[in-house]
Formats: sequence, C-alpha cells, structure tokens
Amino acid sequence: MSSLFSKTISLRTELKISDPEFVQLRDYIYQQSGIYIADNRKYLLENRLANRLKELNLKSFAEYHHFLQYDPSKRQELSRLFEVVTTNETSFYCNPPQLAVFQNNVLPEVLDRQRKAGQRKLRIWSAGCSTGEEPYTIAMILHEVLRTEINSWDIRINANDLSEAVLNAARAGVYNDYTLRTTPKEIVSRYFTAEEGRFRVKPEVKRLVSFGPINLSDRALLKRVERSQIVFCRNVIIYFDDEMKKNVIGSFYDNLLPGGYLLIGHSESLHNISRAFKPKHHPGAIIYLKEG
Ligand SMILES: C[S@@+](CC[C@H](N)C(=O)[O-])C[C@H]1O[C@@H](n2cnc3c(N)ncnc32)[C@H](O)[C@@H]1O
Repeated sequence: MSSLFSKTISLRTELKISDPEFVQLRDYIYQQSGIYIADNRKYLLENRLANRLKELNLKSFAEYHHFLQYDPSKRQELSRLFEVVTTNETSFYCNPPQLAVFQNNVLPEVLDRQRKAGQRKLRIWSAGCSTGEEPYTIAMILHEVLRTEINSWDIRINANDLSEAVLNAARAGVYNDYTLRTTPKEIVSRYFTAEEGRFRVKPEVKRLVSFGPINLSDRALLKRVERSQIVFCRNVIIYFDDEMKKNVIGSFYDNLLPGGYLLIGHSESLHNISRAFKPKHHPGAIIYLKEG
C-alpha cells in the first residue's frame, strides 16, 4: 500500500507542469486554435496530458511543447491536443426552446423569402458541430418543415469542427440512446434505423449534411466558407477569449447573407462582443439577425 502510494507521488512529481511551461503551452494552444485555458485549469491540462507524455516518452511539458512544433507527426499531435482541451459534449434536439424558434420562426421566414425570390436554395453552417448531433437535428427539422417539398430544394448544411475524431464519428452517423434523450419519440422512429441498441441516421437526413474540418481561429479560411442564410455556433465560443470571440462572430456576420440569422448557445451572449446584429427576443431564446 505504502509503495503504491509513493509510486503515485513520484509519477505526479515527474510530470508536473511548471508555471512557465503552462504559459508556454497555453499560449501555443491559443495561437493554434483561439482556445484560451484559464489559470485555474492548469491542473486539468497537467492531468489530461500526463499519460500522453508518458506514451511519447517525454520527460517534461517543455519537451512536449518542442515536440508539438518540430516532430514530423506534429499535425496529428496537435489534433490530439485539441481533443484534450475541448469538450465535445452535444446531443440531438439540444436546447428545445431555441429549436422551436428555429422551426417556427426562422425557417418559415427564410424559406418564404427564398421562394419569393424564385431561389430554392438554402445554406446553413453548423460551426463546431462535434459528433454531428447538431447538424443532423437541423436536417431533421428541415424534413419536418418542408416534408415532400424538400426534394425541390437545393439544401446543404456545412458542418465543421476542429477535431478529426469527432468528424469521423459524425460521418458514421451511429448513436447510442443517451444522446437521443431529449429527442421526441416520433423523430427517433422517423429518422433513425435501430440496430442492436444503436441508432443509425437515415440517408435522407445524411445527404443534407456535408462534414469537413475547420479551425475557427483561421480567419482567411472562414472567408472561404460558402455564404449562409443561417449560422449555428452553439457552445463553442465559450472556449475563446474576447478577442477571438469578436473575430469569430465578425466572420459569421460576414458569412451571413442579408436577413440571415445567427444562433448561439443558451449560456453564450454577444454582449460586449458585437453590436452588428439585431437581437430578437423569443420565449426562452435570443437569436441574432443580420439586417438586410
Ligand atoms: C461542446 S461542443 C458543441 C457541439 C454543438 N455545437 C452543440 O452545441 O451541441 C464544442 C465543439 O467546438 C469545437 N471547437 C472548439 N474550438 C474550435 C475551433 N477553434 N475551431 C473549430 N471547432 C472548435 C470542439 O472540437 C467541439 O467539438
């Protein structure tokens, strides 16, 4: 018992992150992704990376920082690091009051405008889509609203994330019942095929979504994203500091077509970040309009 205890102590001591190493790694992560790690999350970084350092046979966090910059596998390692510092928590039909506004207000308005302009084309951007629950939920709502008319529309939901691992899971489109806990039963039976306790998204939903990598800190890359009528970026900007939030929200504003809407997470706000949008207040949700 005592030897086990002393071994734990010695491992912890070995892989401790010093304050300068923390600042070095924190700044590197910020520079690469815009994700800002507060001082009080120093030990989280230390704990979550300790095993990775051991696997790589590295003796310190300074060595790991060097590895991230110069090793031939630095790109893959950066992806792994992003996975350590982000939370991919998501679920289908997350934030029902906001989705009700999307289904009953935003979509009818935007679709009607397109019909009147004789342009049955719709582009929605799901930025920070994680394992796909958000863009697939959007696709299911589009089916609910348009029904058979959907076949006469040119629709694409561009779904992007920093992490390759979550994008691969999203492309597979197979889920457990926990992630469906707030999804109405009739939606589950209409848009999923049950497979031995797992749920596979049906092809008519999948075909509306196009997954790809993106780093929201890369402004030049964001400029090349196809322009959208609606942008979803929920529970992503919480990771960013104010400067990065301003840049990202500015990019969404530029991406949106006039009369388009931005939807952010329920604990997020544009207060002190952007005055460009007009906030629209609905019961249980604020959405942001780019005036036309
Ligand atoms: C908590 S999940 C939110 C998923 C989904 N939007 C939702 O609300 O259910 C946050 C996602 O943002 C992604 N993310 C964080 N920083 C990013 C960045 N700089 N560029 C692109 N995606 C990022 C993470 O990889 C993660 O999958």
